[in-house]
Amino acid sequence: MRYIRSGSFKRLFSMKRHSLEDLPKECIFMKQDSFNNGETESFKKPTWKCFSFEEIYVATNGFCAENMVGKGGYAEVYKGVLEDGQTIAVKRLTQISCDERKEKEFLTEIGTLGHVNHPNVSSLLGCCIDSGLYLIFQFSSKGSVSSLLHDENLPVMDWNMRYKIALGTAKGLHYLHKVCPRRIIHRDIKASNVLVTKDFEPQISDFGLAKWLPSQWTHHSIAPIEGTFGHLAPEYFMHGVVDEKTDVFAFGVFLLEILSGKKSVDGSHQSLHGWAKPILNEGEVDKIVDSRLEGNYDFLQLSKLAFAASLCIRASSTWRPTMSEVLEVMFEEEIDKNKWKMPDEEKEEQDDFWGFEDLEFESCDSRESTFSTSLQDTVSNKST
Ligand SMILES: Nc1ncnc2c1ncn2[C@@H]1O[C@H](COP(=O)(O)OP(=O)(O)O)[C@@H](O)[C@H]1O
Ligand SMILES: [Mg+2]
Repeated sequence: MRYIRSGSFKRLFSMKRHSLEDLPKECIFMKQDSFNNGETESFKKPTWKCFSFEEIYVATNGFCAENMVGKGGYAEVYKGVLEDGQTIAVKRLTQISCDERKEKEFLTEIGTLGHVNHPNVSSLLGCCIDSGLYLIFQFSSKGSVSSLLHDENLPVMDWNMRYKIALGTAKGLHYLHKVCPRRIIHRDIKASNVLVTKDFEPQISDFGLAKWLPSQWTHHSIAPIEGTFGHLAPEYFMHGVVDEKTDVFAFGVFLLEILSGKKSVDGSHQSLHGWAKPILNEGEVDKIVDSRLEGNYDFLQLSKLAFAASLCIRASSTWRPTMSEVLEVMFEEEIDKNKWKMPDEEKEEQDDFWGFEDLEFESCDSRESTFSTSLQDTVSNKST
């Protein structure tokens, strides 16, 4: 193992321990929102452990191809079963992409996930640093929301499941932004990064691009710009500005994907938000809904989710809701739409917002591609 790798791991472990020790002893906090019935959540020390290479090698049957359940630009994910019978997912940094930046993303993912604890956020069981870099997670038996929505070999996802996934993902994202000990911006919210458990509970995963934001900062400017076409908020794409509202925009696109069953970018590079915006502005929500549902949906629930999506994909981040407000819109009996009215001049600006089809980029297949670009416009692609 190269020095930098073990060095960065040591730093990470000690950083994590410090940050936990820095937390007040009574680090049992009330969730700050009214959506959890005032329940308390104890922020327990993460219980994850270091696995030996042998343990995960045996569990995954030697990383055999039949056990591979996912493949991203820099990692492969394998299903495995531990000696005690627990089913796990092992995310392995692929040999070819063992560059320092990817290694950093991997460490970021451990560093971030080691601090989170919520039913709608993926839970890390541990890692392995022998013979490569590996993250070990609980296995989500239903796969990702993307495969559940778009895999033609699976039955069409029914309305109740879509609704449950939308609410659960909103709660998970609200937790990351507002409740957990650090402000976490995920930066790559999309259907393939939301996994579904056997109880159909959604879990936000893939924290490779996540950022911690110091609480006193309003936002953070980032280069290179990384994320997924079709999910990028304009202020992030154009100026590299990142804050919670960047995730809110991507969450809006995620909602549209659940409601419509369409991908965030179609074959002709038309963005889903560009397609949906005029329809939502006209209030024609039933035109958004997936025709494969054949009308089997709850109109009131659909209206709330569609209204939340329309607010989340607003071009101006100032006029986009926070995740607390998104939950209000989703959960409240009646939506006060007037509260969200924008002045006319703002509306005009919104209309000037670029469409995805205006972008020029070098890509073989833009759909679902995570990419990275500096502001000078160099683009490289990653497939998941
Ligand atoms: N815990 C898990 N349980 C089941 N499948 C998983 C799990 N983690 C990842 N996957 C599968 O692997 C894919 C890629 O994982 P992800 O963490 O998003 O990697 P990448 O960073 O390469 O995109 C996911 O879209 C999903 O299909
Ligand atoms: Mg991913």
